[in-house]
Amino acid sequence: MTSPVGDALLNDGAPLSPRGGRVWSRRGVLASTLALGACGQKAQSAPPGVASWPLKAVARFPVGTCVQAAQLDDPAFASLVAAEVSQLTPEWELKMEYVLQPDGGYRFDAPDRIATFAADHGMRVFGHTLVWYAQRPAFFERLAGDAAAFRNAFSAYVTAVVGRYKGRIVGWDVVNEQVGDDGSGWRTSLWSQALGPLDHMRIAYDLAHAADPAAALFLNDYNLESDPAKRADFLRLAEALLKAGAPLHGLGSQTHVAADLAPGAVAAAIRDLAGLGLKVRISEMDVSLARARGLVNTRADLERRQAALYAEAAEAFAALPPAQRFDFTFWGLEDSQSWLKREDEADAPLLFDDSGRPKPAVAAWEAALRR
Ligand code: XIL
Repeated sequence: MTSPVGDALLNDGAPLSPRGGRVWSRRGVLASTLALGACGQKAQSAPPGVASWPLKAVARFPVGTCVQAAQLDDPAFASLVAAEVSQLTPEWELKMEYVLQPDGGYRFDAPDRIATFAADHGMRVFGHTLVWYAQRPAFFERLAGDAAAFRNAFSAYVTAVVGRYKGRIVGWDVVNEQVGDDGSGWRTSLWSQALGPLDHMRIAYDLAHAADPAAALFLNDYNLESDPAKRADFLRLAEALLKAGAPLHGLGSQTHVAADLAPGAVAAAIRDLAGLGLKVRISEMDVSLARARGLVNTRADLERRQAALYAEAAEAFAALPPAQRFDFTFWGLEDSQSWLKREDEADAPLLFDDSGRPKPAVAAWEAALRR
């Protein structure tokens, strides 16, 4: 139930989402927030009855979400994205599994659509991802026995993809999920076997940097909060890449966590990643209720823990030096679009419910940024 003020802000002629939710139209709220921000003041708390301000209006760093091109054809969701975030990451349509065709050709229709939407709305785009152990396309598997051909095709791919978005993509997950779980060290992959355990990564960073010298190049991985041994291996890999001369500019923690994760684990991971002095990303945050296997069991408890984890991440990220805060990206905005729904339809890992309405986690995340 919102107050007259809240209703006025939320109902200033904005269409109701077909899904019954409110398309967040906060022109007045956003304008006054930005005005406050421009004169160096912190955004005040939201007007009475308005649960939250646009995420990007509260944060002093870029706020992003992953998207799929077709989602942008939904006016309600496109409005939510345009209102709430300032950066987009193609959820899968800039991965090799989408771009690389069986004959070795490339397709860019979907990432081009996302890049155009971002440009039209003054947003940044982040590229995800170039080298991932999970990708084993047949085109490259056929080249595995011919080192020169493999290397040439690999170079052509990275150069073409990064070069296409030169000046439009602000950063890349050049290498994704390279470290095994539980301290098992670096993964082997089609790429490491063909080009070398460290060289396949160094080559990718060099090629990406040559194709777009202005793009920030990241190393990205998951479970860095819940698996300290993996986090240590991840940091050692980053140091090895730097020592090898790779143009590594930043570290990303995917931050796919479960609602029963111990308080403090997210903050510890962010602090450790920042310790190398590189840029830091929260690259894919969601907080699964279904994956929580600990003592917390009622839905209300899980949702409280979910809100607390989003707040912990916000506070720890905001505490980093501004030069290290590259972006804070959620792996989706609305629960209905979460990849985790395929694992458990009842999961609700994101900030907005299936109808695009903000959940308590939004207010918690924003309150943490005002502390
Ligand atoms: C996931 C996408 O969300 C799914 O749509 C896709 O089917 C599989 O990949 N870590 C990553 C992301 O780096 O690329 C993954 O995204 C989620 C885990």
